[in-house]
Amino acid sequence: MTWKITNQSLDNHQLLVDESLFSLANGYLGVRGNFEEGYSDKMASIRGAYINAFHDETEITYGEKLHAFPETQQKILNIIDSQTVLLYLDGERFSLFSGEILSYERNLHMDKGYGERIIHWKSPNGKEVVLHFRRLVSFVTKELFAIDLEVKPVTPVEKIEIVSIVEGDVSNFVDKSDPRVASDHAKRLFVSEVYEHEHYHILKATTYSSKFDVACVTTTNVDQNYSYKSTVKKTSTEEVYEVSGDSSFRFTKLNIYTDTMRHGDNVVEQGIKIHKEIKKETFEDLLKKQENYLTDYWKKADIVIDGDNKIQQGIRFNLFHLLQAAGKDEFSNIPAKGLSGEGYEGHYFWDTEIYMNPVFLMTNPELARSLLLYRYSILDYARQRAKEMGHAKGALFPWRTISGTECSAFFPAGTAQYHISADIAYGFIQYYLVTGDGEFLKQYMAEVLFETARLWIEVGHMYQGEFRIDNVTGPDEYTCIVNNNYYTNAMAKHNLLWAEKAYHILKETDPVRLTELTESIHLTAEEVRQWKVAGMAMYLPFDQELRINAQDDSFLRKARWDFEKSDEGKGALLVRYHPLTLYRYQVCKQADTVLAHFLLEGEEDLETIRRSYDYYEEITTHDSSLSYCIFSIMASKLGYSEKAYQYFIETARLDLDNTHSNTKDGLHMANMGGTWLAIVFGFAGLRIAEEGITLRPSLPKQWRSLQFSLSYRGRLVRVQLEKDQVTYSLTEGDILSITHCGEKQELHPNQDLVIPN
Ligand code: BGC
Repeated sequence: MTWKITNQSLDNHQLLVDESLFSLANGYLGVRGNFEEGYSDKMASIRGAYINAFHDETEITYGEKLHAFPETQQKILNIIDSQTVLLYLDGERFSLFSGEILSYERNLHMDKGYGERIIHWKSPNGKEVVLHFRRLVSFVTKELFAIDLEVKPVTPVEKIEIVSIVEGDVSNFVDKSDPRVASDHAKRLFVSEVYEHEHYHILKATTYSSKFDVACVTTTNVDQNYSYKSTVKKTSTEEVYEVSGDSSFRFTKLNIYTDTMRHGDNVVEQGIKIHKEIKKETFEDLLKKQENYLTDYWKKADIVIDGDNKIQQGIRFNLFHLLQAAGKDEFSNIPAKGLSGEGYEGHYFWDTEIYMNPVFLMTNPELARSLLLYRYSILDYARQRAKEMGHAKGALFPWRTISGTECSAFFPAGTAQYHISADIAYGFIQYYLVTGDGEFLKQYMAEVLFETARLWIEVGHMYQGEFRIDNVTGPDEYTCIVNNNYYTNAMAKHNLLWAEKAYHILKETDPVRLTELTESIHLTAEEVRQWKVAGMAMYLPFDQELRINAQDDSFLRKARWDFEKSDEGKGALLVRYHPLTLYRYQVCKQADTVLAHFLLEGEEDLETIRRSYDYYEEITTHDSSLSYCIFSIMASKLGYSEKAYQYFIETARLDLDNTHSNTKDGLHMANMGGTWLAIVFGFAGLRIAEEGITLRPSLPKQWRSLQFSLSYRGRLVRVQLEKDQVTYSLTEGDILSITHCGEKQELHPNQDLVIPN
């Protein structure tokens, strides 16, 4: 049960949510878990397939447009629909909403990477059939979405027809009432070519404005005698197989998706080429390869707990979808909803660096690197954006984007979140600390750190001996445009000091590269000196009376939000109150200062961290799903074990149980990463520092044991927590020193280190 998600019966009210839960993706291509045969006419569905980063540009319409507001934004597009497979038994169309369902089972196999439905159905005229649908989006051939259907007639049927459709007339989903979902520009893709060539069914579509092409090249097959007809329509192709109902047979549909960005101008030819490459592979072969890929992934990423199957299932579900969501090429990153839905329009946020990439960093560093290189690839846009925003130098990364330009039209909770630049810098630094990769520092990290450090000098200023940053927004989106947001200042400090450090590392290790870089970005030694001065003088707000870090200069002077009056339980405050109302009160959407205390715990003493946690906990709604995991981690640190566990539980099944009521729009990817963080940084107390890694494990009392692996500097370390002991095993790589509960320990290959609690 813990390796799969199962439905044993059909629940009509759950279908939209299931479309997200059962979605399949590989970081490039994603397909929602729609039924091949569709629902009944009146039922809502978000039928969708997406290619990561495949988008169109749309104009942003403002009532009042001011200087440097972004003019266009990007939007991931729902692409050509190849999911449809209809079935007729002697003319009666198969539907789960007519006739009778004699048995039903739907599974998502997270160890093997495919989805299936097994249905015993009786038609209104009494014909019975058992259908076994399986589908996968291949991790090995990233362009491939395959469907396999086994049809077993149970009662006599004369004629069975299979109708396979590929439809290019598709639109995006819009919801005008929810700010987290697009409200406009539903149709941005038109069919530019549709034809049949040899036995390929070909559809090509082009975006309205950016003129990108996407192609879907489809082949189908039935493993029995049949008669066949195919039709090319205006925006679709249709194939009809007619088979006698005497015996079982299988229908297979292979869809290859290609796009201009990855495959150049000849998307159709490339699609056909890929088809030819996989021509000899049966569906079983594809499944086998998929399983092998996942076995490798799970070897490093799996977390095993003993004591709660539902939570175990939730953990695996989250880690599975995280892998499915992560872009694995230089064009893409991790959309906030992965490739499971259209919420947040396929955009990438700070979610990647702070919530998701740490998982890959510690389990699959190659993937972490590739995600960071995407950021490096948009550095020029970030430089450009800094200029637009009136800064003479530096790089301001977009709050939300696909191709690199700012897509946020609501600047108080968008562009004003300057912290994203420091978050990205933080991600680069973490990568360097975990891998020790000096080449990476030279080629990419130094430049990103230098340009982001420059931004802080531009945006901040010295006042009475302290460096201050005014008019920015921190992570908490219920408090916008403030002076000296603690989180932003602390992250900027880290950014500045590390930029200075990286400069000196480079000076020592590769002065030639340093010269080349400083010349290319016109960096002076005086600027580097300023980074240090500003970093050291950074003002971090502290309230003398409460003895906590103030979220910003004015936060603690505001009135406290009246939670009783605000009718808890009726959905996020952001959909019920004007932003200004929220900004006027002490109320937080998500962890802000508490998050800074996690990421940069060396800044404050434990008692300040504790008092701050106690204070902010009371006024945090967790309306953002990015919040629970951070509260869990910090509760673990503070020894609030029960709370740590309760917050963790909120993360583990947030989508599976649809606790935020919007899983239909896609999965909450950052929260999914947060589950891993809450376990590894929370319960196991992992910290990454220049001196190495440290752990301070504490097993939740609800569990008998917990096991996970960490990739660190070319090693793989297996950690097992039990009630009375912790065991470290070095399963790959050479001797490694770690710190366990403040004491240095050496790990040796093939030798378990057992430490009693
Ligand atoms: C959160 C942001 C987050 C975004 C995308 C918002 O609700 O407040 O912090 O980046 O969702 O996940």
